[in-house]
Amino acid sequence: MSALPRAGNGKVTVPDILHRKSPEGDSHHSQQKITCLTAYDYPTARLLDEAGVDILLVGDSLGMVVLGYENTLPVTFDEMLHHLRAVRRGTHHALLVADMPFGSFHVSHEDTVRQALRFVKEGGAEAVKIEGGERRMDLIARLVEAEIPVMAHIGLTPQSVLELGGFRVQGKSASAAEKLIRDAHAVEAAGAFSVVLESVPRELAVHITGELRIPTIGIGAGPDCDGQVLVFHDLAGLSLDGTPKFARQYVNLGELISRAARAYCDDVRGGQFPSDAESFHNARDVAEASVIKSR
Ligand code: KIV
Repeated sequence: MSALPRAGNGKVTVPDILHRKSPEGDSHHSQQKITCLTAYDYPTARLLDEAGVDILLVGDSLGMVVLGYENTLPVTFDEMLHHLRAVRRGTHHALLVADMPFGSFHVSHEDTVRQALRFVKEGGAEAVKIEGGERRMDLIARLVEAEIPVMAHIGLTPQSVLELGGFRVQGKSASAAEKLIRDAHAVEAAGAFSVVLESVPRELAVHITGELRIPTIGIGAGPDCDGQVLVFHDLAGLSLDGTPKFARQYVNLGELISRAARAYCDDVRGGQFPSDAESFHNARDVAEASVIKSR
C-alpha cells in the first residue's frame, strides 16, 4: 500500500471538510462547495484527483456500476478493499473515504471497528462512510472513539433496499421528514464529520443543512447542501443500466468507447492495424536469422 499523502500542499483533510461548512447554512454566503465523486480504480482516481475533486469515495455503488450486481447488497468487504487500494495509489490530494458495505457493520461494534481499521491500515482510507441515521448512533460514536472519521449517509440508503422495498425519494411526508431531521441530528451528535443526504426533497435538505454544524453532501437533494456527490459512472455516461433523475451526464464515454472499439475491429479486420510504423524493425538481424533464411 502506498503511504498516506501528508497534509499541506493542498491535501484535503477531515478538518478542511468541516471548515467548509456554509455559515448558518446560508448557501449565498457560503464557503466554496465541497465536491465529491466516486472512484473505483487507479486511472480514474488519478484523473479525478488531478482535476481537484475534494473527496473521492470508494462507494459500494461499485457493486452495481463496476461489478454488475443488481444492487449493493452482495458487495463484500474484500471487493471494497481491493478497489480502495487501487484508488489509494492514484489519490494524492483528495480526502479518501471508503464505504462500509452491507454486512460489514451489522454484527457487533467490535467487529465493525476491526473492519474499518482494515480499510485505514490496509487500504489507506482516511474516513469511512456508514449508511443509516439514529440507529447507527452508538456505532458511529465507537468508530470516532477509535479515531476513524465517519461520513454518515441518510435519506435513501441503498443498503436498506429490502426494508424500503425499492429506491424512492425519502422524507416526503411530515413524519418521514421529522424522522430524517432526527437522523441528521443523531449522526452529528455521534461525531460524524459530514453527512450524505440522498434523494430527499430540496426544502428538507435546506432545513437540515441550516440546522447542522457539519457539512451536508447532497445527491438528489437539491443545490443548497454544502457539497455534492455523484457516482462517477453517471457523470461519465458509463452507467449502462440508466441514470437517476438527479444525475447529470457531463460526457458520454460509453458512446466514445463503443465507437473506438468498433473502429479498432474494422481496422484489424481490414488490415489497417497495426501499420508499419506501429511495428518493430530490426531488419539486418532478422534477415540473418537462420530460422528465417531456411524458409
Ligand atoms: O456508494 C455510493 O456511491 C454512495 C454515493 C452515492 C453517496 O453511497
